[in-house]
Amino acid sequence: MSLVAPKDYMALLDKAASSLKEKLAPFKDTPIVSPRVLIICGSGLGGIANVLAPEPRLEVPYGDIPGFKTSTVPGHAGKLIFGTIGENKVPVICMVGRLHFYEGYTFQETTFPVRLAKLLNVKTVVVTNAAGGVNEKFKPGDLMIIEDHINFPGLAGFHPLKGPNLEEFGPRFQPLSDAYSHELRHLFFKKASLLGVTRAIHQGTYFFAAGPTFESRAEVRMIRTLGGDAVGMSTVPEVIVARHSGMDVLALSLITNAGVGEKPPSAFEENPKPLDDGMASHDEVLESANEASKDVQKIFTATINEL
Ligand code: HPA
Repeated sequence: MSLVAPKDYMALLDKAASSLKEKLAPFKDTPIVSPRVLIICGSGLGGIANVLAPEPRLEVPYGDIPGFKTSTVPGHAGKLIFGTIGENKVPVICMVGRLHFYEGYTFQETTFPVRLAKLLNVKTVVVTNAAGGVNEKFKPGDLMIIEDHINFPGLAGFHPLKGPNLEEFGPRFQPLSDAYSHELRHLFFKKASLLGVTRAIHQGTYFFAAGPTFESRAEVRMIRTLGGDAVGMSTVPEVIVARHSGMDVLALSLITNAGVGEKPPSAFEENPKPLDDGMASHDEVLESANEASKDVQKIFTATINEL
């Protein structure tokens, strides 16, 4: 899978944008023709789409959008929903089902929806993910507002902005010291407090691992040493491309499991703790996400209503 040349990538994006504008044409007298926010739903967090008003609403399967890849992961449906959120009827696009690098897609493909949102004039990207807790204070079911990230694959050359720069969107050397908007993080936190949400809300650093394996014990310790509070297989490419396109970002991790960082039981022990104690599984991720989803939906409705 090689990089698509900028000219061809732009042509694909333009085609996708035109196709969506055509589908939106019958909604020209409603707010959804001018979406302001893109919401990317993480594993098991597709329920966020339930906060969109029943009308007006347009659902477009990824397969119907030229150039858009389809999601292959259980818990990721694969459709864009155009709708509104909250009393203020803020027009949003909800991306139910995301595309991951580990599925075999290039970063150009996984971040295509973010570029597409920019072409539709979206101003803010709200990203969610399921993540493993690396910080020992984090428990499954907790939330973490992402304040910073470590792009581990990116530092080794697997970077979403690698290749010719797309000048139409942003600069060659994109700074990332302001990647996660303080205003949006504070707004999210304020709304959660006002709503009386009792679920623990942390803030921390998201460590991007390419996956698809969950981390080994030694990797969990390494991530902890490097400053990661939570680890997951998504989000960072989308965030980088959103910032490169000048969009503001709010990102949230739902801690679905605790990363296992203790040394494995010693070979010299007779009756050790089972080796699979605390082991991560995708089913556990989906179950935990499903439970926390209601709180996330409530806080997002209140937060996005202000955008
Ligand atoms: N590691 C990586 N990605 C994840 C995890 C994890 O433990 N949990 C949910 N997504």
